[in-house]
Amino acid sequence: MPQTTVEEAFSDGMAPRTVTRATLDKRDYISEASRQAEWEGIWTRCWLFSGLVSDLEDSGDYFVYPLGRESVVVLKDEQGDIRAFYNVCQHRGNRIFTSESGSIQHVVCPYHGWRYGLDGLLREIPDEQRFCPEVDRSQRSLKPVKLAVWAGLIWINMDPDAASLEDYLGSIMQNLEPYHFERMVLAKHQTVHLDANWKTVRDNFLEQYHVDFIHPQHASFVDCCNSENVLWPYGHSATMVEGFVTNSRYPTPEETPEHLVMALRSLGMDPAEFTGRVADIRKAVQARKRELGPELGFDYSEFSDSQITDVWQYDIFPNTFMTITAEEVWVYGPRPDATDPDRCYFDKWTISIPREQGCDLKRKLTLNPRLVASIDDERPQHEVFTAADVIAEKHTLTITLDQDIYYLADMQAGMHSRGFECAVLNEDEVRVQHFHDWVEYYVSQH
Ligand code: FES
Ligand SMILES: [Fe+2]
Repeated sequence: MPQTTVEEAFSDGMAPRTVTRATLDKRDYISEASRQAEWEGIWTRCWLFSGLVSDLEDSGDYFVYPLGRESVVVLKDEQGDIRAFYNVCQHRGNRIFTSESGSIQHVVCPYHGWRYGLDGLLREIPDEQRFCPEVDRSQRSLKPVKLAVWAGLIWINMDPDAASLEDYLGSIMQNLEPYHFERMVLAKHQTVHLDANWKTVRDNFLEQYHVDFIHPQHASFVDCCNSENVLWPYGHSATMVEGFVTNSRYPTPEETPEHLVMALRSLGMDPAEFTGRVADIRKAVQARKRELGPELGFDYSEFSDSQITDVWQYDIFPNTFMTITAEEVWVYGPRPDATDPDRCYFDKWTISIPREQGCDLKRKLTLNPRLVASIDDERPQHEVFTAADVIAEKHTLTITLDQDIYYLADMQAGMHSRGFECAVLNEDEVRVQHFHDWVEYYVSQH
């Protein structure tokens, strides 16, 4: 079966598509002019996922979100509220926070010692009497950045006039309620430097046309050819891929494929029972998880059947992907380099239900064989590495993402060729089209 696509409007009346169709001109991937236009039109206007609430446990805990030439600090204040500020001192513009995370009592600029509260207010100026005229403290507090928290995820927006995150995400928030990301724990935090434009990375994760060719292993546990796409306003989209099935492009195998054997055994199911009826596995797993979940400490009652077995990938404009299963979620995406359109950073947070709620070691049962993180674990180290490290197998973002990363620099290199002008897209690349449609829209507004 081919992929299908539906378009859904939000209640604010905004249509999923803009009137014009984007063209994928190679210059948009390599030019300084596009980099600057995207900075003004997209990065400083849109809501951006910046980190996890679970990283800000106590008052004074902070992390820094670097984006292009900007740096934003996100911290928990004395009242327990989460705030974001531009990471810059209002004396002479020094960058204040130089570590990527930590815990502080006051915000103290390391240059001349100006001291701010966790609420951003300027509290103390060394040798204050020597400023003439006197410093107006109300004008010299840290500059706030708009912030919103949803389901344990922290979002920032540099546009003070931006519509709320609720309006921006529309029905997406409702769709994702059953997963309760806020109850999940961080299992991995990784950043890889890539020799590719951020849109080259986005394009890769916005289509499944490449899956048969570079991820052949997928054919034996998900059906990417049969996926259902949804397009929403503001450039967001999603795709649903059925799990615990085989690729409908090929004949259904007689025996349970190897990739599903382990998953079935971990649920206490016998793979041999499905010989000759592999197509029945998905439904059987949905029923089994509903039954086994409460025994192991996890409740599936809020989930639809599809949410129990299938992989839902949400693509939140401009740069946040969420690959979602009931027990494990990847939140990931590219951030542009400060100056070079040929480079970007790719961040990935892996969060999951804690193994205490999804495993019974004595009975050798687990709701998902990938559950490793415990409630009691220390926060995992932030791993930072390069694409070359991935290719040399020194680091992995999982086999699927490693396979993608292998190609990204070559895609970017091709954009510089005199022998290539612009891309051509098929129906299975509709989300790529949708994304660029909205890139053009945002850039044209500013
Ligand atoms: S620049 Fe921060 S105290 Fe002088
Ligand atoms: Fe891929």
